[in-house]
Amino acid sequence: MGTGRAMVLLLLLFMLFLVLDVSVVGAQKTTNTTTTTTEFTFRGFTGNESSIRLAGAAMIKPDGLLRITDRTQTVTGTAFYNKPVRLLENNGNSTRVASFSTSFVFVIIPTSSSNGGFGFTFTLSPTPDRPEADAAQYLGLLNEDNDGNLTNHVFAVEFDTVQGFGDVSDRSGNHIGLNFNSLTSDVQEPVVYYDESGRKEDFLLQSGDPIQALLDYDGPTQTLNFTVYPARLKSRPVRPLISQQHVPKLVEIVQEEMYVGFTAATGIDQSSAHYVMGWSFSSGVNLSLAKPLNLSELPPPPPNTAKKTGYDSGVLALIVALSGVTLILLALLFFFLMYKKRLQQGDILEDWEINHPHRRRYKDLYAATDGFNKNRIIGTGGFGTVFRGSLSSSPSDQIAVKKITPNSMQGVREFVAEIESLGRLRHKNLVNLQGWCKHKNDLLLIYDYIPNGSLDSLLYSRPRQSGAVLSWNARLQIAKGIASGLLYLHEEWEKIVIHRDVKPSNVLIDDDMNPRLGDFGLARLYERETLSHTTVVVGTIGYMAPELTRNGKSSTASDVFAFGVLLLEIVSGRRPTDSGTFFLADWVMELRETGDILPAVDPRLGSGYEAGEAKVALSVGLLCCHQRPASRPSMRRVLKYLNGEEDVPEIGDHWGYSDSSKRSKVEGYNVSSDKANSSSVASFSVTRVSSSSVIMSGR
Ligand SMILES: *[C@@H]1O[C@H](CO)[C@@H](O)[C@H](O)[C@H]1NC(C)=O
Ligand SMILES: *[C@@H]1O[C@H](CO)[C@@H](O)[C@H](O)[C@H]1NC(C)=O
Ligand SMILES: *[C@@H]1O[C@H](CO)[C@@H](O)[C@H](O)[C@H]1NC(C)=O
Ligand SMILES: *[C@@H]1O[C@H](CO)[C@@H](O)[C@H](O)[C@H]1NC(C)=O
Ligand SMILES: *[C@@H]1O[C@H](CO)[C@@H](O)[C@H](O)[C@H]1NC(C)=O
Ligand SMILES: *[C@@H]1O[C@H](CO)[C@@H](O)[C@H](O)[C@H]1NC(C)=O
Ligand SMILES: *[C@@H]1O[C@H](CO)[C@@H](O)[C@H](O)[C@H]1NC(C)=O
Repeated sequence: MGTGRAMVLLLLLFMLFLVLDVSVVGAQKTTNTTTTTTEFTFRGFTGNESSIRLAGAAMIKPDGLLRITDRTQTVTGTAFYNKPVRLLENNGNSTRVASFSTSFVFVIIPTSSSNGGFGFTFTLSPTPDRPEADAAQYLGLLNEDNDGNLTNHVFAVEFDTVQGFGDVSDRSGNHIGLNFNSLTSDVQEPVVYYDESGRKEDFLLQSGDPIQALLDYDGPTQTLNFTVYPARLKSRPVRPLISQQHVPKLVEIVQEEMYVGFTAATGIDQSSAHYVMGWSFSSGVNLSLAKPLNLSELPPPPPNTAKKTGYDSGVLALIVALSGVTLILLALLFFFLMYKKRLQQGDILEDWEINHPHRRRYKDLYAATDGFNKNRIIGTGGFGTVFRGSLSSSPSDQIAVKKITPNSMQGVREFVAEIESLGRLRHKNLVNLQGWCKHKNDLLLIYDYIPNGSLDSLLYSRPRQSGAVLSWNARLQIAKGIASGLLYLHEEWEKIVIHRDVKPSNVLIDDDMNPRLGDFGLARLYERETLSHTTVVVGTIGYMAPELTRNGKSSTASDVFAFGVLLLEIVSGRRPTDSGTFFLADWVMELRETGDILPAVDPRLGSGYEAGEAKVALSVGLLCCHQRPASRPSMRRVLKYLNGEEDVPEIGDHWGYSDSSKRSKVEGYNVSSDKANSSSVASFSVTRVSSSSVIMSGR
């Protein structure tokens, strides 16, 4: 077993010798200032250890690698070809530097990817070692005292892996420099190579991978080309990294006999092992390129034992931080652009507006209504202006957009939550709320478009204009429909919804004379707007229950009251109040007390109505207008009375409001009384009486 292993080892060594075919043609000294050719090629250094003059930390490893420094802190190492090279050429009475070419493959293995240092040089030196040289940034080449001194006669290509250091100006890590007597580079380039398409590819010197360097100097043209690239590439880049014409300093530097070789150094915290795997050199009057070094013919590269951690903790943290900042900036930019876009469309979303399924885009509404064109207005009053819009050419895509400008947007946020739930209300007697949109200070509500207009216009405008009086059956159907819609709001949906503003203009009539209640819950927006110490009553004069003026609290009973007034209105064709002296409910009550209620029926119907039904309707209307909320029937009952399923009960005591108001009601019988000083809402300073919704506030 043991002998077998030794045999294998021997065989391997033998093969290594074969592979490392090192050919050296020694320089021959002929006469002074007369060039001779020097040419050598080391594919690994095994067997030719004596050709290399080592100093400091440099050594040739048994595997044939030339290691200039290990990763010991602050060491220097030099390795020179042991014979001088003659580079001065005497051209009669002038001298110039002869051509030379060199090629080498090196590996730099840092302690960790962030803590490598300091680099190495390829050097032309008058001496085969650098005894005075210092470590760290002096790269084993010079020292603090002789740095920059013209008597150095040193030319070096530096492979620097450390970022700018104190007294050495203008450095970045990972760069190549051309140095003349000094560690300050005359020419400095970042480490890149040009690929076939001429694109720059950068790479790290201290990657731990083999890297090929080529330096060619053409004497006659005084051109110096330098190329560096990862040795794994199939062919050398066509374009050199550095191409310098006229390097006049070189002739001042080169002396009769120069030594060629490498120097390297490590620092205190930054240290790398610097290896040379193979090296070829050629010099002479005419340029002949150094022998190419094929990676497969070189000893295997040293294992990359660089610790990854340093990079992780330091640079990685920086990279992560920078990426984070970049991401944040990009995100900000993105949101800024979005915001700007929204701004242009006037659609600025606040947090709470996002994720509401019923929210619509202002842009769409704007387009649907021709930019809220005046010609599109189909109604004003209530709480805003209503526009007709069409989302597409199809008639089923008609919408009504109600534009409301609340006094403040304070309550809108809560209200939107409510709209969101109102948007789920579905009943044949309710106007379907499709969605909403907030734009600047406007709140836009999108409803189904109901073509026939409102009950208000059917009761009043249309008869005036065309004499077309709403038939009794239509009136009854409408009354029942409204009752049905209110019943749904009050009792049949998942939540109790109080309409708060039941009146003819909020009842839309579709093609089938089917009534649809609109604007439900909308008044709540105005209730919400107020400060807590203020009581606000929202509704329409004439339809507001008396208790609203006392405690301001809407209830299903106050809706029932408004329905009662509306019912009386539908039957009688008269507005509920008139300049504060006529009150429909009181008037009907008076008629009832006289024993004949039927004169309350709209005279325009003539005899075109059913007396029994009219009596029931009027009685139900009166019952709903009872001053005590508890005495009013529920909408369920109301519907049963109207459908004839239950008898209308007698109206109990205390139906009316007060003696004084009752008196005025009696006076109001003729609708011409000028005693305008008492009304059911007299405790509030309401100066305007109209069919519009009003907001009254008091403390
Ligand atoms: C070369 O020059 C040195 C001094 O620079 C001199 O000593 C030597 O004799 C010269 N050799 C020849 C062959 O001229
Ligand atoms: C280098 O090694 C080769 C054989 O591999 C040998 O012929 C040559 O003499 C050596 N050169 C030196 C300078 O030792
Ligand atoms: C030497 O220099 C002189 C003067 O500059 C010049 O005339 C002469 O041609 C030069 N000789 C050679 C061989 O170049
Ligand atoms: C350069 O080096 C020489 C020889 O070591 C020395 O005499 C001279 O003073 C140095 N010059 C400077 C500027 O340091
Ligand atoms: C140096 O590079 C330039 C540009 O690629 C090329 O034209 C020139 O021939 C090269 N010279 C030498 C000596 O390699
Ligand atoms: C160098 O090249 C020139 C022209 O190409 C030639 O005349 C000369 O003999 C060459 N010299 C050597 C030493 O090869
Ligand atoms: C390197 O050597 C391998 C095998 O010896 C050969 O196939 C390849 O072509 C060579 N590459 C170059 C660039 O000479």
